[in-house]
Amino acid sequence: METTATAIAHPNIAFIKYWGNRDAELRLPANGSLSMNLGGLFTRTCVRFDPALAQDEVWLNGQPLEGEPRERVVRFLDLVRGLAGRNLAARVESENNFPAGAGLASSAAAFAALALASTAALGLHLDEAVLSRLARRGSGSAARSVPGGFVEWQPGRGDADSYAFSIAPPEHWPLVDCVAIVEAAHKAVGSSQGHRLAATSPLQVARLVDAPRRLRVARQAIWRCDFEALAEIAEQDSMMMHAVMMTSRPPLIYWQGVSVDLMRAVASWRREGVAAFYTLDAGPNVHVICLPEYAENVQRRLQNFPGVREVIVAEIGGPARLVGVQG
Ligand code: PMV
Repeated sequence: METTATAIAHPNIAFIKYWGNRDAELRLPANGSLSMNLGGLFTRTCVRFDPALAQDEVWLNGQPLEGEPRERVVRFLDLVRGLAGRNLAARVESENNFPAGAGLASSAAAFAALALASTAALGLHLDEAVLSRLARRGSGSAARSVPGGFVEWQPGRGDADSYAFSIAPPEHWPLVDCVAIVEAAHKAVGSSQGHRLAATSPLQVARLVDAPRRLRVARQAIWRCDFEALAEIAEQDSMMMHAVMMTSRPPLIYWQGVSVDLMRAVASWRREGVAAFYTLDAGPNVHVICLPEYAENVQRRLQNFPGVREVIVAEIGGPARLVGVQG
Protein backbone atom coordinates (compact mmCIF):
# COMPACT_ATOMS: atom_id res chain seq x y z
CA MET A 1 0.00 0.00 0.00
CA GLU A 2 1.50 3.33 -1.12
CA THR A 3 1.86 6.25 1.28
CA THR A 4 3.41 9.02 -0.82
CA ALA A 5 2.35 10.09 -4.31
CA THR A 6 3.07 13.08 -6.55
CA ALA A 7 0.81 14.25 -9.37
CA ILE A 8 0.79 17.03 -11.94
CA ALA A 9 -2.30 18.72 -13.41
CA HIS A 10 -2.81 21.66 -15.76
CA PRO A 11 -5.23 24.56 -15.38
CA ASN A 12 -7.89 24.84 -18.08
CA ILE A 13 -9.66 27.65 -19.92
CA ALA A 14 -13.36 27.23 -20.69
CA PHE A 15 -14.87 28.14 -24.07
CA ILE A 16 -18.35 27.34 -22.72
CA LYS A 17 -18.33 28.43 -19.08
CA TYR A 18 -19.62 26.87 -15.89
CA TRP A 19 -21.40 29.45 -13.71
CA GLY A 20 -23.93 28.44 -11.05
CA ASN A 21 -24.57 25.16 -9.25
CA ARG A 22 -27.70 23.03 -8.95
CA ASP A 23 -26.18 21.63 -5.77
CA ALA A 24 -23.46 23.68 -4.10
CA GLU A 25 -22.34 20.94 -1.69
CA LEU A 26 -21.86 18.34 -4.46
CA ARG A 27 -20.84 21.02 -6.99
CA LEU A 28 -23.34 19.81 -9.56
CA PRO A 29 -23.26 22.50 -12.25
CA ALA A 30 -26.26 24.34 -13.63
CA ASN A 31 -24.95 23.75 -17.17
CA GLY A 32 -22.44 21.66 -19.12
CA SER A 33 -19.10 23.28 -20.00
CA LEU A 34 -16.20 22.80 -22.39
CA SER A 35 -12.55 23.75 -22.04
CA MET A 36 -8.99 23.08 -23.09
CA ASN A 37 -6.14 22.26 -20.74
CA LEU A 38 -3.20 24.63 -20.59
CA GLY A 39 0.02 22.65 -21.04
CA GLY A 40 3.25 24.14 -19.76
CA LEU A 41 1.39 25.60 -16.77
CA PHE A 42 0.91 23.10 -13.95
CA THR A 43 0.43 22.39 -10.28
CA ARG A 44 2.64 19.66 -8.81
CA THR A 45 1.27 18.15 -5.61
CA CYS A 46 2.88 15.63 -3.28
CA VAL A 47 0.70 13.90 -0.67
CA ARG A 48 1.99 11.75 2.18
CA PHE A 49 -0.35 10.05 4.66
CA ASP A 50 1.53 9.63 7.89
CA PRO A 51 0.41 8.01 11.19
CA ALA A 52 2.84 10.33 13.01
CA LEU A 53 0.88 13.46 12.02
CA ALA A 54 -1.77 14.76 14.43
CA GLN A 55 -3.50 16.83 11.77
CA ASP A 56 -3.30 17.68 8.08
CA GLU A 57 -0.51 20.01 7.01
CA VAL A 58 -0.99 21.90 3.78
CA TRP A 59 1.75 23.86 2.03
CA LEU A 60 1.41 25.99 -1.09
CA ASN A 61 4.51 27.36 -2.84
CA GLY A 62 6.54 26.81 0.35
CA GLN A 63 4.08 28.58 2.69
CA PRO A 64 1.70 26.86 5.14
CA LEU A 65 -1.98 27.38 4.26
CA GLU A 66 -4.23 28.58 7.10
CA GLY A 67 -7.90 29.35 7.62
CA GLU A 68 -10.55 28.66 4.97
CA PRO A 69 -8.11 27.72 2.13
CA ARG A 70 -6.65 25.03 4.42
CA GLU A 71 -10.12 23.89 5.55
CA ARG A 72 -11.15 23.43 1.92
CA VAL A 73 -8.23 21.04 1.41
CA VAL A 74 -8.95 19.24 4.71
CA ARG A 75 -12.61 18.73 3.70
CA PHE A 76 -11.42 17.30 0.41
CA LEU A 77 -8.97 14.95 2.17
CA ASP A 78 -11.88 13.83 4.38
CA LEU A 79 -13.71 12.71 1.23
CA VAL A 80 -10.66 10.76 0.09
CA ARG A 81 -10.20 9.19 3.54
CA GLY A 82 -13.88 8.19 3.43
CA LEU A 83 -13.43 6.56 0.00
CA ALA A 84 -10.39 4.61 1.17
CA GLY A 85 -11.79 3.77 4.60
CA ARG A 86 -8.61 5.15 6.22
CA ASN A 87 -8.21 7.76 8.91
CA LEU A 88 -4.67 9.08 8.53
CA ALA A 89 -3.59 12.71 8.50
CA ALA A 90 -1.66 13.95 5.47
CA ARG A 91 1.07 16.36 4.55
CA VAL A 92 0.27 18.08 1.25
CA GLU A 93 2.89 20.09 -0.61
CA SER A 94 1.76 21.90 -3.71
CA GLU A 95 3.58 24.15 -6.13
CA ASN A 96 2.45 26.11 -9.15
CA ASN A 97 4.95 26.75 -11.95
CA PHE A 98 3.03 29.88 -12.97
CA PRO A 99 3.64 33.11 -11.09
CA ALA A 100 1.83 33.26 -7.74
CA GLY A 101 -0.79 35.99 -7.76
CA ALA A 102 -0.75 36.27 -11.55
CA GLY A 103 -4.51 36.15 -11.26
CA LEU A 104 -4.68 32.83 -13.09
CA ALA A 105 -7.30 30.52 -11.66
CA SER A 106 -5.32 27.77 -10.01
CA SER A 107 -8.02 25.81 -8.14
CA ALA A 108 -8.77 23.59 -11.17
CA ALA A 109 -5.18 22.36 -11.45
CA ALA A 110 -4.84 22.25 -7.66
CA PHE A 111 -7.79 19.96 -6.98
CA ALA A 112 -7.16 17.75 -10.03
CA ALA A 113 -3.57 17.16 -8.84
CA LEU A 114 -4.72 16.70 -5.23
CA ALA A 115 -7.42 14.19 -6.24
CA LEU A 116 -4.90 12.08 -8.14
CA ALA A 117 -2.03 12.29 -5.63
CA SER A 118 -4.15 11.73 -2.51
CA THR A 119 -6.02 8.71 -3.88
CA ALA A 120 -2.82 7.14 -5.23
CA ALA A 121 -1.11 7.74 -1.88
CA LEU A 122 -3.84 5.66 -0.22
CA GLY A 123 -3.47 2.89 -2.80
CA LEU A 124 -6.70 3.75 -4.68
CA HIS A 125 -6.53 3.50 -8.46
CA LEU A 126 -9.58 5.35 -9.75
CA ASP A 127 -10.57 5.46 -13.39
CA GLU A 128 -10.69 8.85 -15.12
CA ALA A 129 -14.43 9.48 -14.70
CA VAL A 130 -14.36 8.65 -10.98
CA LEU A 131 -11.31 10.84 -10.50
CA SER A 132 -12.99 13.68 -12.39
CA ARG A 133 -16.08 13.36 -10.12
CA LEU A 134 -13.86 13.49 -7.07
CA ALA A 135 -11.87 16.53 -8.31
CA ARG A 136 -15.23 18.26 -8.97
CA ARG A 137 -15.94 18.19 -5.23
CA GLY A 138 -12.89 20.41 -4.58
CA SER A 139 -13.57 22.91 -7.36
CA GLY A 140 -16.08 22.40 -10.17
CA SER A 141 -13.71 23.28 -12.99
CA ALA A 142 -11.14 20.80 -11.55
CA ALA A 143 -13.32 18.04 -13.03
CA ARG A 144 -12.14 19.30 -16.45
CA SER A 145 -8.42 19.26 -15.55
CA VAL A 146 -8.42 15.46 -15.10
CA PRO A 147 -8.82 14.37 -18.77
CA GLY A 148 -6.53 15.79 -21.50
CA GLY A 149 -6.89 18.12 -24.49
CA PHE A 150 -10.38 19.44 -25.24
CA VAL A 151 -12.66 18.44 -22.40
CA GLU A 152 -16.42 18.48 -21.84
CA TRP A 153 -18.00 18.31 -18.38
CA GLN A 154 -21.49 16.87 -18.63
CA PRO A 155 -23.75 18.26 -15.91
CA GLY A 156 -25.20 14.80 -15.16
CA ARG A 157 -28.34 13.94 -13.24
CA GLY A 158 -26.44 13.53 -9.99
CA ASP A 159 -23.03 12.90 -8.49
CA ALA A 160 -22.55 9.62 -10.38
CA ASP A 161 -22.70 11.05 -13.92
CA SER A 162 -21.41 14.60 -13.39
CA TYR A 163 -17.87 14.22 -14.72
CA ALA A 164 -15.66 15.39 -17.59
CA PHE A 165 -14.21 13.51 -20.55
CA SER A 166 -11.95 14.34 -23.46
CA ILE A 167 -13.68 15.11 -26.78
CA ALA A 168 -10.37 15.48 -28.68
CA PRO A 169 -6.69 14.99 -27.75
CA PRO A 170 -4.23 17.93 -27.66
CA GLU A 171 -2.71 17.02 -31.04
CA HIS A 172 -6.13 17.33 -32.74
CA TRP A 173 -5.81 21.13 -32.83
CA PRO A 174 -2.80 22.88 -31.24
CA LEU A 175 -4.50 26.07 -30.05
CA VAL A 176 -2.50 28.54 -27.94
CA ASP A 177 -3.72 30.69 -25.03
CA CYS A 178 -1.91 34.04 -24.62
CA VAL A 179 -3.08 35.34 -21.24
CA ALA A 180 -2.90 39.11 -20.86
CA ILE A 181 -2.37 39.76 -17.15
CA VAL A 182 -4.11 43.01 -16.30
CA GLU A 183 -4.15 42.72 -12.53
CA ALA A 184 -2.26 40.37 -10.26
CA ALA A 185 -4.43 40.79 -7.15
CA HIS A 186 -6.70 38.03 -5.87
CA LYS A 187 -10.33 38.26 -6.88
CA ALA A 188 -12.62 40.20 -4.59
CA VAL A 189 -15.41 37.63 -4.83
CA GLY A 190 -14.25 34.07 -5.36
CA SER A 191 -16.05 31.69 -7.68
CA SER A 192 -17.62 29.57 -4.90
CA GLN A 193 -19.54 32.65 -3.76
CA GLY A 194 -20.10 33.78 -7.34
CA HIS A 195 -21.82 30.50 -8.22
CA ARG A 196 -24.27 31.14 -5.38
CA LEU A 197 -25.17 34.56 -6.80
CA ALA A 198 -25.78 33.33 -10.37
CA ALA A 199 -29.43 32.46 -9.73
CA THR A 200 -30.13 36.04 -8.53
CA SER A 201 -29.69 37.30 -12.10
CA PRO A 202 -32.82 37.14 -14.27
CA LEU A 203 -30.47 36.50 -17.22
CA GLN A 204 -29.20 33.19 -15.81
CA VAL A 205 -32.31 31.31 -16.98
CA ALA A 206 -31.82 32.44 -20.58
CA ARG A 207 -28.14 31.56 -20.37
CA LEU A 208 -28.93 28.05 -19.13
CA VAL A 209 -31.71 27.37 -21.66
CA ASP A 210 -29.34 28.21 -24.51
CA ALA A 211 -26.35 26.28 -23.08
CA PRO A 212 -26.96 23.01 -25.00
CA ARG A 213 -26.88 24.99 -28.28
CA ARG A 214 -23.62 26.72 -27.41
CA LEU A 215 -22.08 23.40 -26.38
CA ARG A 216 -23.17 21.81 -29.65
CA VAL A 217 -21.72 24.65 -31.74
CA ALA A 218 -18.43 24.64 -29.78
CA ARG A 219 -18.07 20.85 -29.95
CA GLN A 220 -18.66 20.86 -33.73
CA ALA A 221 -16.25 23.76 -34.22
CA ILE A 222 -13.55 21.86 -32.33
CA TRP A 223 -14.14 18.61 -34.22
CA ARG A 224 -14.00 20.49 -37.57
CA CYS A 225 -11.14 22.79 -36.46
CA ASP A 226 -13.38 25.71 -37.49
CA PHE A 227 -11.66 28.66 -35.79
CA GLU A 228 -14.19 31.34 -36.75
CA ALA A 229 -17.10 29.27 -35.40
CA LEU A 230 -15.29 28.58 -32.11
CA ALA A 231 -14.30 32.26 -31.83
CA GLU A 232 -17.88 33.48 -32.22
CA ILE A 233 -19.47 31.04 -29.81
CA ALA A 234 -16.75 31.36 -27.14
CA GLU A 235 -16.90 35.17 -27.17
CA GLN A 236 -20.69 35.06 -26.95
CA ASP A 237 -20.53 32.56 -24.09
CA SER A 238 -18.01 34.67 -22.15
CA MET A 239 -20.23 37.75 -22.60
CA MET A 240 -23.29 35.81 -21.44
CA MET A 241 -21.55 34.69 -18.25
CA HIS A 242 -20.35 38.23 -17.51
CA ALA A 243 -23.87 39.58 -18.26
CA VAL A 244 -25.17 37.22 -15.56
CA MET A 245 -22.41 38.29 -13.17
CA MET A 246 -23.09 41.99 -13.74
CA THR A 247 -26.84 41.58 -13.23
CA SER A 248 -26.57 39.47 -10.05
CA ARG A 249 -27.51 40.92 -6.69
CA PRO A 250 -25.07 42.20 -5.57
CA PRO A 251 -23.55 42.72 -9.02
CA LEU A 252 -20.17 41.20 -9.79
CA ILE A 253 -18.06 43.30 -12.12
CA TYR A 254 -14.80 41.51 -12.79
CA TRP A 255 -13.63 43.61 -15.74
CA GLN A 256 -11.18 46.49 -15.62
CA GLY A 257 -11.12 49.23 -18.26
CA VAL A 258 -8.16 47.48 -19.91
CA SER A 259 -10.17 44.24 -20.14
CA VAL A 260 -12.77 46.06 -22.26
CA ASP A 261 -10.08 47.73 -24.41
CA LEU A 262 -8.54 44.31 -25.02
CA MET A 263 -11.86 42.70 -25.98
CA ARG A 264 -12.43 45.43 -28.56
CA ALA A 265 -8.86 45.13 -29.86
CA VAL A 266 -8.94 41.34 -30.22
CA ALA A 267 -12.21 41.51 -32.16
CA SER A 268 -10.67 44.08 -34.52
CA TRP A 269 -7.47 42.02 -34.94
CA ARG A 270 -9.67 39.12 -36.03
CA ARG A 271 -11.35 41.34 -38.62
CA GLU A 272 -7.83 42.13 -39.92
CA GLY A 273 -7.25 38.39 -40.38
CA VAL A 274 -5.47 37.43 -37.13
CA ALA A 275 -7.01 34.14 -35.93
CA ALA A 276 -7.61 35.10 -32.27
CA PHE A 277 -10.55 35.42 -29.87
CA TYR A 278 -11.00 36.43 -26.24
CA THR A 279 -12.56 34.81 -23.19
CA LEU A 280 -12.57 35.98 -19.54
CA ASP A 281 -13.11 34.01 -16.33
CA ALA A 282 -14.00 35.44 -12.92
CA GLY A 283 -11.34 38.14 -13.16
CA PRO A 284 -10.05 40.95 -15.37
CA ASN A 285 -7.32 39.02 -17.22
CA VAL A 286 -8.02 38.38 -20.88
CA HIS A 287 -7.32 34.96 -22.38
CA VAL A 288 -6.58 35.35 -26.08
CA ILE A 289 -6.89 32.02 -27.85
CA CYS A 290 -5.17 31.78 -31.22
CA LEU A 291 -3.93 29.44 -33.92
CA PRO A 292 -0.25 28.53 -33.34
CA GLU A 293 0.94 30.43 -36.42
CA TYR A 294 -0.41 33.68 -34.89
CA ALA A 295 0.87 33.11 -31.35
CA GLU A 296 4.03 35.23 -31.64
CA ASN A 297 2.15 38.05 -33.33
CA VAL A 298 -0.59 38.01 -30.67
CA GLN A 299 1.95 37.83 -27.84
CA ARG A 300 3.77 40.88 -29.22
CA ARG A 301 0.56 42.87 -29.64
CA LEU A 302 -0.47 42.04 -26.07
CA GLN A 303 2.95 42.89 -24.61
CA ASN A 304 2.75 46.33 -26.23
CA PHE A 305 -0.83 46.94 -25.12
CA PRO A 306 -1.17 49.76 -22.56
CA GLY A 307 -2.18 48.37 -19.15
CA VAL A 308 -1.04 44.79 -19.78
CA ARG A 309 1.51 43.82 -17.10
CA GLU A 310 2.59 40.46 -18.39
CA VAL A 311 1.70 37.87 -21.02
CA ILE A 312 1.71 34.16 -20.21
CA VAL A 313 1.65 31.79 -23.17
CA ALA A 314 0.33 28.23 -22.87
CA GLU A 315 -0.20 25.53 -25.46
CA ILE A 316 -2.95 22.95 -25.21
CA GLY A 317 -2.09 20.31 -22.60
CA GLY A 318 -2.64 16.70 -21.59
CA PRO A 319 -4.35 15.00 -18.66
CA ALA A 320 -3.50 14.99 -14.96
CA ARG A 321 -0.81 12.39 -14.33
CA LEU A 322 1.12 10.68 -11.58
CA VAL A 323 4.83 11.44 -11.58
CA GLY A 324 5.89 9.42 -8.54
CA VAL A 325 4.58 6.88 -6.04
CA GLN A 326 6.59 5.57 -3.10
CA GLY A 327 5.88 2.90 -0.53
O1 PMV B 1 -14.26 25.84 -10.50
P1 PMV B 1 -14.70 27.17 -9.99
O2 PMV B 1 -15.69 27.07 -8.88
O3 PMV B 1 -13.51 28.05 -9.66
O4 PMV B 1 -15.50 27.92 -11.17
C1 PMV B 1 -14.89 28.33 -12.37
C2 PMV B 1 -15.73 29.33 -13.05
C3 PMV B 1 -15.15 29.97 -14.30
O5 PMV B 1 -13.74 29.88 -14.33
C4 PMV B 1 -15.53 31.44 -14.28
C5 PMV B 1 -15.74 29.36 -15.57
C6 PMV B 1 -15.22 28.00 -15.95
O6 PMV B 1 -16.03 27.22 -16.50
O7 PMV B 1 -14.03 27.71 -15.76
